[in-house]
Amino acid sequence: MQVLVIGASRGIGLEFVQQYLAEGHQVTATARDDAALEKLKALGAKALKLELLDPKSCAGLAWQLDGMQFDVLLINAGVYGADVAAPTPPTQAEFDLVMHTNVLGPMRVLPALTDCLAQNAKLALLSSRMGSINLRRSPNGWLYRASKAAANSVLKDASIAFGGRAVCVALHPGWVKTDMGGSQAELSPAEVVSSMRAVLARLGMQDNGNFLNFDGKPLAW
Ligand SMILES: NC(=O)c1ccc[n+]([C@@H]2O[C@H](COP(=O)([O-])OP(=O)(O)OC[C@H]3O[C@@H](n4cnc5c(N)ncnc54)[C@H](OP(=O)(O)O)[C@@H]3O)[C@@H](O)[C@H]2O)c1
Repeated sequence: MQVLVIGASRGIGLEFVQQYLAEGHQVTATARDDAALEKLKALGAKALKLELLDPKSCAGLAWQLDGMQFDVLLINAGVYGADVAAPTPPTQAEFDLVMHTNVLGPMRVLPALTDCLAQNAKLALLSSRMGSINLRRSPNGWLYRASKAAANSVLKDASIAFGGRAVCVALHPGWVKTDMGGSQAELSPAEVVSSMRAVLARLGMQDNGNFLNFDGKPLAW
């Protein structure tokens, strides 16, 4: 199987790379600095440079992927950003960093993936339950929440645009012990990535456009 991981330098993205490689799959993975690219190459992945905040870098992704076909495509890169609760406004710079990374980033990357979808490919955007409007009970982290709600909208549109060619889902990984999730988080990257790989393997066309927990259970938008 051919796998693409966007944002694979550390955390959940790196764990996806390691687990798919360990199962003998061919993995292409992106990072934005040379040390991370070298680390990915040493693991056995094909490493591509990609900075989501740079339009030129995103525009260059299409030619970097030219001729490649992927069975699994993961848009994993993301930031939590400034931890502001409603109704405290983020600064312009805080807003731009989170929205440009989590929303504009996937919107810039998705066009490059259009010609790289193998038959019945699985495309997942790493979203968050914090982006769910229905499940929301707290005003904390409202900038991140807004970005993941918008990212869910982006994924839904991609599921319509790619429908019939790929199964597109938004995936909540759980609260995971990474730089973003912190050491108090409930779950290890190894266990959630193993679970999400199993979910991805089971997906069929009937799942296109869904929002799923890491164990495969549907989440309310
Ligand atoms: N951990 C959790 O509890 C949790 C919960 C819900 C959802 N999620 C989501 O799961 C995904 C992965 O989270 P994580 O916990 O693994 O986070 P993480 O450890 O902070 O890793 C974030 C990844 O995104 C990359 N990235 C950030 N900004 C980028 C940019 N502008 N261009 C390219 N790459 C960029 C980082 O690359 P650099 O190393 O270069 O910064 C890194 O590879 C995110 O989308 C996150 O929102 C995580």
